[in-house]
Amino acid sequence: MKIDFWHDRWQQDQTGFHQDEINPYLQSFWNNFNLARGSKVFVPLCGKSLDMLWLKQQGYQVVGNEVSPLAVEAFFRENSIEPEVKENPAFQCWSGKDIEILCGDFFDLTASDLAGISAVYDRASLIALPPAMRIQYAEHLYHIVPSEINILLVTLEYSQQQMDGPPFSVSHDELRELYQGKYSISQLASSDIIGQEPHFKSKGLNHLMENIYRLSDL
Ligand SMILES: C[S@@+](CC[C@H](N)C(=O)[O-])C[C@H]1O[C@@H](n2cnc3c(N)ncnc32)[C@H](O)[C@@H]1O
Repeated sequence: MKIDFWHDRWQQDQTGFHQDEINPYLQSFWNNFNLARGSKVFVPLCGKSLDMLWLKQQGYQVVGNEVSPLAVEAFFRENSIEPEVKENPAFQCWSGKDIEILCGDFFDLTASDLAGISAVYDRASLIALPPAMRIQYAEHLYHIVPSEINILLVTLEYSQQQMDGPPFSVSHDELRELYQGKYSISQLASSDIIGQEPHFKSKGLNHLMENIYRLSDL
């Protein structure tokens, strides 16, 4: 999947993945992590997710990563945060009110960009990527975040024969393959949301599972 695909999606305002409300699983499960206020949370492939605002409101510092400058600009504008914008060789760094978004390619992030991160909130990153890239994504994420972190992961699973991605289906077995040996994986919740997704129903899906996982240091 080429980066241009995502630039085009944002250019054409095809952002059906964006949620106008805070993700309910984030609100339900985040406190289980017992993360000290002031800790830094990494939000990969963040789009203009309002979940970053919720994390900030809970007292955390947020570091997002997003390739689309349109998404990053929209996040700050729509939430009335005046950003400071700095250029570095790989990323344009937008920041304001304890939220920093590194605008650029996730695969260019290094461990030093994410020094001091204590947790990761990952919604809809894996499902944005085709299978081979998901393997690269999981490897790269593991190598750039510090050890001893928790990850809250929100993903989707459906019959890939019924629809092409994105969003791609990420099965429970695939998730285990991606992260086994790296993290201990526990499933926190699973619910069929096809009734709330008429668009996907009209594309032929008869179920669409939203799966929530906690990944912890082994
Ligand atoms: C399915 S959306 C999810 C957005 C967000 N996590 C949310 O919950 O609304 C995937 C996002 O990843 C971004 N993206 C795709 N490939 C990327 C990459 N290689 N590096 C950084 N961002 C990327 C896209 O522009 C898009 O905003």
